This record gives sequence, C-alpha cells and structure tokens, in this order.
Amino acid sequence: MYYPDELIEEVRLKNDIVDVISGYVRLQKKGSSYFGLCPFHNEKSPSFSVSREKQMYYCFGCGAGGNVFTFLMEYENYSFLEALKFLADRAGVELPEAEYSEEAKKRAGIKAVLLEINKAAAQYFYVQLKNPQGQNALTYLKERGLSDDTIKAFGLGYSNKYSDDLYRYLKSKGYKDELISQAGLVSVDEKHGVYDKFWNRVMFPIMDVNSRVIGFGGRVMGDGKPKYLNSPETMIFDKSRNLYGLNRARTSRKSYFLICEGYMDVISLHQAGFTNAVASLGTALTAGHASLIKRYVNEVYLTYDSDDAGTRAALRAVPILKEAGITSRIIRMEPYKDPDEFIKNLGREAFKERIHKAGNGFMFGLEVLEKSYDMTSPEGKTEFMREAARRLAEFDEEIERGNYIEAVAAAYHVGHEELRKLTGRMAVQSGLAKPVERPKAAIKREKEKENGVQKSQKLLLTWIASDEHIFRQIERYIAPEDFSEGLYRTVAELLYEQYENGGPNPAAIISRFADEEEHREAASLFHTRIRELSTAKEQEKALAETVMRIKSNSIEEAAAKLEPTDMKGLQRLMEAKRELQNLAKLHISIN
Ligand code: GTP
Ligand code: MN
Repeated sequence: MYYPDELIEEVRLKNDIVDVISGYVRLQKKGSSYFGLCPFHNEKSPSFSVSREKQMYYCFGCGAGGNVFTFLMEYENYSFLEALKFLADRAGVELPEAEYSEEAKKRAGIKAVLLEINKAAAQYFYVQLKNPQGQNALTYLKERGLSDDTIKAFGLGYSNKYSDDLYRYLKSKGYKDELISQAGLVSVDEKHGVYDKFWNRVMFPIMDVNSRVIGFGGRVMGDGKPKYLNSPETMIFDKSRNLYGLNRARTSRKSYFLICEGYMDVISLHQAGFTNAVASLGTALTAGHASLIKRYVNEVYLTYDSDDAGTRAALRAVPILKEAGITSRIIRMEPYKDPDEFIKNLGREAFKERIHKAGNGFMFGLEVLEKSYDMTSPEGKTEFMREAARRLAEFDEEIERGNYIEAVAAAYHVGHEELRKLTGRMAVQSGLAKPVERPKAAIKREKEKENGVQKSQKLLLTWIASDEHIFRQIERYIAPEDFSEGLYRTVAELLYEQYENGGPNPAAIISRFADEEEHREAASLFHTRIRELSTAKEQEKALAETVMRIKSNSIEEAAAKLEPTDMKGLQRLMEAKRELQNLAKLHISIN
C-alpha cells in the first residue's frame, strides 16, 4: 500500500495548490499570496492564505496549514491515500495497483460493495417515494412540513409494502446474498427465506461525512412500533463514529454545531436555515462523536428533547464533550417536545432567540441538580453547595475553575471566597476518596515533562525550515542524528538534504507522511510563527538554549547506548561533551 516518494511528489507537483483550493474557497490575489475566507473556522474577513510559490496554505486566524494533501485531508476528511488517489485522478497520473495484503484487499473490496449496495438501496427508496405506491409516504412527509427540496437534499425515500422488494432489486443488479445480508438490508430465516428489513416505512438514508450512504433509519407512518428501525452496525456503519447531517453541517461555516436527538429534528432545522444541525444515530453521544465534532468546531449547542430522558442525555453529553475540549450550551425546547415541533410552532426567529439565550452546560447541570434539594432550608442548600463544589473541583484548569466558581457564587448568592475554599476541600476529599479518579491530568503532566526535549526539537525544526540564515549557523553543531528517532529525525534528514540541493521545500516533506497523525504533526512544523513571540535578543537566547538542550540530550542518549568497550565511541563522546561546553557561549544571530 506504499507508493514511491517520487510518484507522490509527481502527483503533488501536478496539482497546483491554488487551483485545487480555488475549487473550495474563493481566493483573491494579494501580493505574492492568495487570500480567502478560511474554510476551517468561521470568519468575516479573509485570513486564509495560499502560496503558489511554496505550494502551502496557512490560516492566520486558526493556524490550519499544510500542503495540497493536507488541505484535502482536512476539508474532505480524506485519509492520505484517498487524497492521493483524488489528486492523481485529477491530474491524470496513473497510480499502480496498490499492493494490499489479500486480507486488506478483501476487506476493502467488501466495504466498497457495501457502499454500492447502500447507494443502490437509497436510490431505489427514493424512486419508490416518487412512484404511485409511495403516495402515502410522500403525503406523510409533506404533512410533516417538508418541502420537495428538503426531501431531495436528504434523499428521503420509501420502502414498499412487499416483503422482498428491495432484495429482488438488489439481486437483479447482481449483488450476492451474502453481501446484501452483510449490508443489513435483509434478514434471513429458515422458514421465510430472505426478506427485506424495511417494510412500508419512510426511509432516511444515513450518510458519512463524505455523503456516502452507510445505513438507514426507517420510520413507521403513524403509531406503529418500533417507531424507528435502524440499520444494524456493519463494516461501514459505526454508529458511534458518525452523525446524521454531518455531511451537510460541516460546510455550514458556523463556529458551533446544534446537536439534537432525532433525524426529523436535523431535517427541520436544516430546512429552517440552521444548516449546522447534526444528530447521533439513535444512540447516546460517545467520545467517538466528540472527537469527530472537534475536527470542525469547538462549541456545541445541545438541543435535546425537553423530557426527562432528553435532559439526562444532555447532562451526560456535557462531560464527554468537555473531555474532548468542546464547550456545550443547552437550548431548552419547552413547551415543545423537540426542535422539530418547536420550529413548526414558533418558527425560526423564536429558535434563534433560544440559541441566543442558551445556558452554559455546567450551569444547566446545577439547575437540574437543584431540583433534588430543598433549597429553602439551610441544610438543603448547604448539601447542594457541597455537591456543586465537588463538581467545580473537577475543572483542571485553574482559570476556568475560578471563572465557574465566580459564576456559581453569583447565581446562588454565596460568598465567592467561601465557595472557593469549599471547592478546595472537596477536591482534597474526593481525591482521597477516589484516588484513581483523575489520573489523566497526572499522566498528561508526566508526558509534558518527557516531551520537553521533543518540544525543543520541534521548535528548532520550525526555525531552520523557515530561515536559511539560522540553518547555516546551526548546521555546524546539530546534525539530523541529534534529533530523536521518528518523525523529527526524518524531517530533519529531509530538510538537511534539501538545503544541500537547492533549498528547503516543506510542501515536499509533508507528503512523506501518510499516517494522518504524523501528517498533521509534520504540517504543523512549518507554520509556527516564531518571530512574533519576542524581541530578536530574546529569540537569539531561546535559540541558543534550544540548540544546547538538543545537543546535550543527544549526547546523553548516545552515552546511555555506549558499550563500555567501545573506545572510539567513548572518544567521540568526550569530544562532543567538550564541544557542548563551547556551545554554552554560542551566539546565533537572528537577522
Ligand atoms: P419523530 O417522532 O418522527 O419526530 O421522531 P424524532 O426524530 O423526534 O425522534 P425521537 O425523538 O422519537 O427519537 C430520537 C431518535 O432515536 C430517532 O431519530 C431514532 O434515531 C431513535 N429512535 C426513536 N425511536 C426508536 C425506536 O423505536 N427504535 C430505535 N432503534 N431507535 C429509535
Ligand atoms: Mn420529533
């Protein structure tokens, strides 16, 4: 599955980044760069820049950046290979058949067929809806207020009353029983043979971020049970990693998502102009959903049903989102059941108003909690404040905790200082009572220490990649081998090589990394802006210290690996240590 570097480079060079990005973002030439509105965050004036010369993009607002592959990976949510294939296709470069293992080939093959089957089924359902036998279903959707455009945009359909209608259609298209069954569209039993899973239901195709159909929800028209029937999870349908409506919401250019519970809620909201609405697929919100959401936004508004179950679901979602770094607000739908009914009754302006008034997720949690205490008695209120303090203690970040303490103190009319103390006590108490409760923060801290050297390496790479003058001064002291194994070492090797042969070319380095995490990490090395951090003098000092730290770490590592009998190695080490002492006097000029 690995393509030669030259081929990847050929694909990159044949896809001019300005041309490719112009297909997604309206760009205007300004000086030597092109500017437009950043597709990765919400903004009103353009801070997204694309350089034809460097074949890189960078957003001064949100820090997104990379080469043409990175752009497609971020925008289309492609893997590196998918981006490569797309661009090869675009430029007419033929990629040789990748060498997958038999097993991988089979899996990829099955996945592709399952996607085809789902797509065929969606088309079939759509046609049925428009046929005379779909009349009732169409009327049902119309009565629920959906326009033709909306029905089309969401690809809604109808599954016939016959028991094996879809099955026969799919067979006629040549799909094998086993795969139709793996797609979850039919059931097989000994008595009845093969029959369709969905009968006489309004069909909601579920799509992944790239608008590929991966499953269905089917609703009875009226009061039958179950109200919704959903496709089972399959090789292509993972409910905890997909969200209904995300394929449309991600291009809504809003800085937050509206998260609701039902398919109909999403559709109603989109129809009313709230195109940033998504829903989980009949399951509770998971950490998988949260990390998916985090790719697009840092904030969500939970607009769950106004019943107890909806409230509980919202309360459970808040900490899961928080863990992923997403803040939540909660929109109440009272006196209506859900967003769909709310919009139908009060309209979009009223909904906007609710968005505007949405409460913070943490404070909402306290409001709900309040109901289980007798807030009119001193004992009740004290107990409540203890629980509130226990929750406040869970904010790791001091500033954030402080802000919440302030907000809670004000909302419940208690002394700010007293609440702060109580929170401290609760932190200790729950720390003693549940010592394993918060290992994450501790692990994070340890990792950070460990990563101090890595940070230096990263910083130096960023520096030398952006500035030849700096590179020329440090190359005498630091070689690629002084970087730790792995990504940094590889980047350093490539960078040094490029300096030998004409000059740095970050765009070419980035595409060496096919693994998505590594690709992002590599891309991030080339658009850190250091110069603005401090004065030239401070930068020079920091630079010298960074060089020093990397060198001494490298010597330490070499020493640890050295065999005691390796006299030559020992000699080299001594020499390096002497050099290190000279390095202490090193001055590197920035300009
Ligand atoms: P409408 O009554 O059509 O407005 O439905 P809704 O979109 O308001 O859905 P509701 O709030 O009743 O349920 C939320 C989500 O839970 C639905 O979109 C489904 O994904 C799922 N769900 C609801 N009922 C059932 C059911 O009977 N079985 C299963 N498996 N899932 C269901
Ligand atoms: Mn509803």
